[in-house]
Amino acid sequence: MNTEYIAYRGECIRFSGNPFQDQQALEYITDALLIIENGRYTYVGDYHSGKHRLATLKISATKISGLICPGFVDLHCHYPQIDIIGSYGKQLLDWLNDYTFPAELAFADPTHCQATAKKFISSCLRNGVTTAAVYCTVHPQSAAALFEESLTRNMRMIAGKVLMNRNAPTDLCDTVQSGYDDSEALINRYHQKQRLSYAVTPRFAPTSSNEQLESCGALLQKHPSVYCQTHVAENKDEVAWVAELFPQSSSYLSVYRDFNLLTPKTILGHAIYFNEQDWSLAKEHQITLAHCPSSNLFIGSGLFDMGTAIAHQPEITTGLASDIGGGTNLCPLATMNEAYKVSQLQSNSLTAAQCFWLQTTGAAQALSLHGNIGNIEEGLEADFIVLRANDSQDIQQRLASAESIEEKLFVMIMMGDNRLIDATYIMGQRQHSYQIENYAHHNSSR
Ligand code: GUN
Ligand code: ZN
Repeated sequence: MNTEYIAYRGECIRFSGNPFQDQQALEYITDALLIIENGRYTYVGDYHSGKHRLATLKISATKISGLICPGFVDLHCHYPQIDIIGSYGKQLLDWLNDYTFPAELAFADPTHCQATAKKFISSCLRNGVTTAAVYCTVHPQSAAALFEESLTRNMRMIAGKVLMNRNAPTDLCDTVQSGYDDSEALINRYHQKQRLSYAVTPRFAPTSSNEQLESCGALLQKHPSVYCQTHVAENKDEVAWVAELFPQSSSYLSVYRDFNLLTPKTILGHAIYFNEQDWSLAKEHQITLAHCPSSNLFIGSGLFDMGTAIAHQPEITTGLASDIGGGTNLCPLATMNEAYKVSQLQSNSLTAAQCFWLQTTGAAQALSLHGNIGNIEEGLEADFIVLRANDSQDIQQRLASAESIEEKLFVMIMMGDNRLIDATYIMGQRQHSYQIENYAHHNSSR
């Protein structure tokens, strides 16, 4: 293969450390040069210090106008739920029965899977999400469609077919055997293919029998490099139901522990109602928590305790997640906005750097992918976005009076939406441009 070199020049932010430990961890390079070789950064630094490399490589740098930032990582979302975002007025268990399960039934049809996967991936790119941990439905074709679409876009994605064999509509249930076999077939077909990873995905404790949870543990033992993702302690009624269904387990998280589902590659969504035992199990098994603030507020679930999660670093890792369709917005700026406010209610003011880190470098660390993605540094894959105030005079006006990069980022979190995602690059190639998409859109709607 011929080596392909690309270079970009512009303002850039990245992380030199963890902003929960080091207040200087956010690095701002006012005039940065990024040189990318076959999709990976081979130089990141000041333009003037690095520009001689361009002459050696006989390339020039494309100027980027806007702020270059690592691509966003969404630790927990449901692609089959994009068409039920913003469904009114229910709390978790009714919301699942009334909106979610009916929507997921449609994924028996592979054509619907393909069309929705395409819509979801386009939406990720529009919102600056370059990697996500994604729930599909019980149907293996729903996962295949998402993986195929991710391959087409060359995206680093994690996904799995949901496992459920009770307490759900019959047509959304698999069996212990079919759930195991379908998951394993998908692992064999997609796990570690290009940039893809598989996640064994039991929906949550109430929808799997003991035998199914046990079979998930067996799958993880047989395929130790795959992820596990599930929900935990999201809603008070759910926690009470789990205590009833699993009387032999001493806490919600101990159910998953008892079936060998807790590994450093386990991503648990929500974790609002953790007791002391849950926190100590989470720490002991070095699990990842996905904080889903938009969903937790929208479904009325509760407030995640970010302070305690951070206090348990580095054993417990934490990042941000949209949890669409429980969450109401795939845009990570919106997720950060809600995360800030949820922490404010607990007298804990997250900084802009902390919010961005939880959605980039920190989330990549939580997925053990920090050797691949999540930052802008030599050796990593060049998934990045460009932030720029498009079409919003209010934001432009407010940014004009911002005095520091931290202040600008905070304003973007508080006032921004996906119009700020000017472009999204995957492995150095632009896969979304706000300008082009909107120009094309205006033309086609005339
Ligand atoms: N718990 C079990 N399934 C789901 C789901 O689809 N969304 C949310 N938010 N919580 C769940
Ligand atoms: Zn979820």
